[in-house]
Amino acid sequence: MTSITHSKSWIKLKKHHDEFSNSHMRDLFNDDPDRFNKFNLQFDDLLYDFSKNIVSQDTLNLLYDVAKEAHLSDWVNTLFNGEKINFTENRAALHIALRNRSNKPILVDGKDVMPEVNAILEKMHLFSEAIRNGKTKGCTGKKFKTIVNIGIGGSDLGPAMVCNALKSYGHKDITPIFVSNVDGSDISQALEKCDPETTLFVIASKTFTTQETMTNAFSAREWLLNELSNEDAIKHHFVAISTNESAVKAFGIKADNMFTFWDWVGGRYSLWSSIGLSIAIYIGMDNFEDLLLGAHEIDNHFKNEPLEKNIPVTLAMIGIWYINFYNYNTLSVLPYDQGLSLLPSYLQQADMESNGKFIGRDGKKVCLHTGPIVWGEAGTNGQHAFYQLIHQGTDIIPTDFIMPIKSQYKIGRNGEKHHKILFSNFVAQSRALMLGKTEDNVRAEIKDNEGNKNIEEMIPHKSFEGNRPSNSFLFKELNPKSLGRLLAIYEHKVFVQGIIWNINSFDQWGVEYGKQIASLVLPVLDQNTQADNFDSSTDHLINYFKKNI
Ligand code: F6P
Repeated sequence: MTSITHSKSWIKLKKHHDEFSNSHMRDLFNDDPDRFNKFNLQFDDLLYDFSKNIVSQDTLNLLYDVAKEAHLSDWVNTLFNGEKINFTENRAALHIALRNRSNKPILVDGKDVMPEVNAILEKMHLFSEAIRNGKTKGCTGKKFKTIVNIGIGGSDLGPAMVCNALKSYGHKDITPIFVSNVDGSDISQALEKCDPETTLFVIASKTFTTQETMTNAFSAREWLLNELSNEDAIKHHFVAISTNESAVKAFGIKADNMFTFWDWVGGRYSLWSSIGLSIAIYIGMDNFEDLLLGAHEIDNHFKNEPLEKNIPVTLAMIGIWYINFYNYNTLSVLPYDQGLSLLPSYLQQADMESNGKFIGRDGKKVCLHTGPIVWGEAGTNGQHAFYQLIHQGTDIIPTDFIMPIKSQYKIGRNGEKHHKILFSNFVAQSRALMLGKTEDNVRAEIKDNEGNKNIEEMIPHKSFEGNRPSNSFLFKELNPKSLGRLLAIYEHKVFVQGIIWNINSFDQWGVEYGKQIASLVLPVLDQNTQADNFDSSTDHLINYFKKNI
């Protein structure tokens, strides 16, 4: 396929950008007081306001035309039909099957995967309920109170983010702890909080070979055996989630305590699978199934809605507009909800590990920008860290503001007060970024507030260019279903952008090279001789480490 940049609609869009790029949102809003009503979409209680973007209806129409010329709907069918869209690993990417609550057959290699998906969900249901109601106990007969999920990347970020977001749904006597880093302080700090008799270890690893996870798993195993001095302990206190049955068996985990999933589930798309076991234990299977339902609803929306009514498509194409026409190559995700504080990290993997690619599906170097640098922080904290740059920096950073209208927590009479303060900041920031503040505004403000001292000198420092675009998402409350919807919107947004860029969003060869070199360095650290066969920097760093460890 020739690059999308040669398509008719892309060329028209380029011309449109040349004419339109000097537009300021301040004027777009002044010229059309009804702008919001033209540029928002709603899905049940989820409101997506995209009016604070530097777009006109012509812009959007041309963006949707680009999606059509990229044959997006064909690719959506390819994805949903379980075809091998991940061609470099010869795999489907069927995370939608994991939450296919309609139970309509979905075939991989001619076989309906739904019976085995449902069998694993049932196994998760039975197991998580038995942990929660205390029927399944540790080897000394005590109920489990701590779940230590040992995993990294998609085997950590999803479960950790969901458990953090849905704490108010969590079992009051069960505490989830997430260990991911191979830095010994991670597992050590976790084990300090654990009572061996009441701790269940969930080893989450698709491959069951990831160095960090297996190092932590063996350390946890050693700790438990030392603490309980009972060989039987492993059978009672360890479960595994993996596709690698032989490696799980070799670790000593019994088959009943192994939860499988499939190679057509990418790590960063796996929280909907048995990788979500920690979630199901913490919030209960009913709530886990609501999470699946929310995602399933968006899957249907994404598959069936026309482009101009399609939330993931609109979000994606507005991102394309900034990345490929304005060269705004980062995206900040700013959830105004402390429970969503791990969402930016989760979306970093979802987006950057999917679309951080420079080679297209045709094996050639792409000729356009691809995946953005995704980052962010819960509001209002970010306002006291990096909003100076977002407002007055030389880089323009498109932002996604996200906020549930109701808080999960009520602090006595003040419960509402906290949330109203939070919301006033949520909505103020996107307005300030859009509107900016002209030098005239500043001049008038200073005159009113500070008399006439050194006004002219201060004006430039207190002015704001504005025209900094944002998307705003508002929904009634953060619950399993609304969270499932939000995550699926971003998953499909990433997919759409990958199709426009003609890259494979489902492999991750880029993570291998560093691991490869690390495996060459590790043995050198145990040798008595000095390192001298890498490069002068690496050799000196290794030798300095060996000298001082
Ligand atoms: O970051 C590379 C990666 O393969 C991710 O895609 C994956 O989520 C993570 O490592 C962990 O892999 P595993 O679940 O196989 O341990």
